[in-house]
Amino acid sequence: MAFLSLNDTEIADKLKDGQITICVIGIGRIGLPTALVFAQAGAKVIGADISDIIVENINNGITHIDEPGIEEFLKNAVSSGNFRASTDLQASITEADVIIICVPTPVDINKNPDYSALMAVCRDLVKGLKKGSLIIIESTIAPGVVEEIIVSFIEENTNFTIGKDLGIVSCPERADPGKIFECLKTVPRIVGGIDERSNNLAGALYKAAMGVKIVKVSNPRTANAVKLTENIFRDVNIALINELAILYEKIGINIIETIGAATTKWNFVPHYPGPGVGGPCLPANPYYLIQVANRVGYIPYLVRLAREINDRMPDKIVHLILEALNGIGKPIKGSKVAILGITYKSGVKDVQYTPAERIIDTLKNLDTQITCYDPLFKNEIVFGLPIEESVEVAIQDADAIVFCTAHEEFKQLNLENLSKLASLPAVIVDTRNIFNLNKAKNAGFAYRGLGVPVS
Ligand SMILES: NC(=O)c1ccc[n+]([C@@H]2O[C@H](COP(=O)([O-])OP(=O)(O)OC[C@H]3O[C@@H](n4cnc5c(N)ncnc54)[C@H](O)[C@@H]3O)[C@@H](O)[C@H]2O)c1
Repeated sequence: MAFLSLNDTEIADKLKDGQITICVIGIGRIGLPTALVFAQAGAKVIGADISDIIVENINNGITHIDEPGIEEFLKNAVSSGNFRASTDLQASITEADVIIICVPTPVDINKNPDYSALMAVCRDLVKGLKKGSLIIIESTIAPGVVEEIIVSFIEENTNFTIGKDLGIVSCPERADPGKIFECLKTVPRIVGGIDERSNNLAGALYKAAMGVKIVKVSNPRTANAVKLTENIFRDVNIALINELAILYEKIGINIIETIGAATTKWNFVPHYPGPGVGGPCLPANPYYLIQVANRVGYIPYLVRLAREINDRMPDKIVHLILEALNGIGKPIKGSKVAILGITYKSGVKDVQYTPAERIIDTLKNLDTQITCYDPLFKNEIVFGLPIEESVEVAIQDADAIVFCTAHEEFKQLNLENLSKLASLPAVIVDTRNIFNLNKAKNAGFAYRGLGVPVS
């Protein structure tokens, strides 16, 4: 079937009747839920991935992604016959009417975007594509990558003309880990096609499968700019609040009280300080735009500075730990520091670019004794450290207890009970403002919070 020849009504009908085959390439945190939602909507979905083990496990109903509801979605999709995984990318591409690309696009050690996985997929595409297919790129990329790299690569290596024989669209993923299924069915989709037909067909497909509002923009370049703008907006705002937190602490002002009061004004958008910015998107995405800006001779000072401020936060936290220990008369060298929370985000089992890793590495270099606890990694070894089985085990005889992630479990902790286990005098270093000075003091701890003045 030539997908490009369908109209909106045919897309909705054929999707329900199982007559549309979709190949999702890269069945990771984003690709797998996306594949399962399309399968649930009736499409025949092939999840294509280079990892033998991921494909084998998924075909046996075992998922490597920690996302609420995913086991149930996978079970239903496999048992309905609508979903299977495969390592044969070319055959899967040939079988599909629509190819959705969800491979990683990280930055390399020099902070340049690494599109190697995307280019590997392009090499498979040119061998497997059939006329009339629609290619959708959900991976985060810089504006211009579709128009300047992917389209020319496909046209140079096939007899197809994009816009005539094939459609291509950027539809950047906007889902929030921990709520991906909810987001897929509620958050509007940005769709930017190489031509109007690609735009309309992709919009009709997402609308039919997910029921979400479709926001059509002029081209793939703009769709990717939307995604980067959203994440850079957040990175810059977090950097601003991190900077103010450090300053306010020094001049006797509490950042949390300040944000609370400022939020009463209609145009203030609250953001909160933290030990740094982690995850697959925020620490990487600004560099995609920085590279494009460099190419056209423009220096995006604010975007760069925000990255620098947020990148320096783990070092600020180590300094806070050092000051906190010195404040109770203990040197950092040899002190026992319990790190509570290693994920970049509460409730999501993901440590990509997590600030906790840099904090741990620096503390190791300062010869502290480190223990670690995270409810999502109990009894595993992460960053070369065993993750203890409970908070109580991790904080036994601790001189400093450092909260790096605001997991729900931590919010429920009884500090009085913890103070019986720590090596008093001990200090709580609260990088997420979970507690406050009085709570900690009443429990018998000293307290240092990010953006909280020393009492
Ligand atoms: N994770 C998020 O929160 C999030 C949110 C929005 C956007 N994104 C973007 O979505 C894209 C995918 O991210 P993710 O977090 O799902 O990544 P992931 O690492 O969880 O999954 C990627 C999958 O792609 C597979 N893969 C790698 N190279 C491949 C290749 N050449 N051919 C086939 N499969 C290949 C890997 O084996 C893996 O299973 C990235 O561009 C990311 O920036 C991620």
